[in-house]
Amino acid sequence: MKNEKFNIQKAQELKKNGEKFTMLSVYDYPTAKYAEAAGIDALLVGDSLAMTILGHADTVSVTMEEMLHHVKAVSRAADRCMVVADMPFMSYQTCVTDAVRNAGRFLKEGRADAVKIEGGAALSPTLQAIQEAGIPIIGHIGLTPQSAGQLGGLKVQGNSLKGAKKLLEDALAFQNAGAFAILMECIPAKVAEFIHSNLEVPTISYGAGQSCDAQGLVLADVIGLFDKFLPKFSKRYADIGALIEKAISEYKHEVVSEAFPSKDYEYGVSADFAALLDKELGSSKEKK
Ligand code: KIV
Repeated sequence: MKNEKFNIQKAQELKKNGEKFTMLSVYDYPTAKYAEAAGIDALLVGDSLAMTILGHADTVSVTMEEMLHHVKAVSRAADRCMVVADMPFMSYQTCVTDAVRNAGRFLKEGRADAVKIEGGAALSPTLQAIQEAGIPIIGHIGLTPQSAGQLGGLKVQGNSLKGAKKLLEDALAFQNAGAFAILMECIPAKVAEFIHSNLEVPTISYGAGQSCDAQGLVLADVIGLFDKFLPKFSKRYADIGALIEKAISEYKHEVVSEAFPSKDYEYGVSADFAALLDKELGSSKEKK
């Protein structure tokens, strides 16, 4: 029997029991399969794929169609994990109607279980409309990379009293608008703890310390697949990038030195067929 799919009720139950759950940003079928097998609870198809997979300088360029393409791949792999689709820049800021339509596409076409939206209190009406359409939402506060231009770069947020109060206001507004969880990115642990203790819904930390109910990381950081930078909060558990380069370089050298393909990698023919080929077509050695 398949394990039950991770859902909002399970997240709430774990929070109530003081047990942690896990989230991982992944973007494709094979890594989503590995994450499932490793017991991760929720897979975020994050717009970070703009940088880690598509090679953009920031997250704003990724489109709805590109996000959908990746959400579909991850959903195909996820039997047990909750799949959360990240709403890309300009898929929800233009108007509430666009926001509901695009969020709906992630569930209807992408087969995601929930969507995530970056922002703050000003987006409450949008969150509420999506929620009222029956779509589960995670509100993302703190460092919201789609507004990095306004925030002065990819920086820690809430490190002033005014900033910390604003984050609490954003989190409460999202909770009141119906978000089932609040994701906090790049927030000092003490500030995140304060926000966490004022919320009823589960909190997810991407660089917001230990107090949150869940921890999340970007897989490309965890396995060393993205080498442009590693945020302070990210921990690298493997260096897959180096392994990939080593394997490709060995392959290249074996081709040049004619070690590959050896007989083991060739398709053979029977002795009779070989003789027939030589007789009818002439031996390839003779032809040279
Ligand atoms: O895109 C992403 O992976 C995210 C996380 C960093 C929160 O938004």
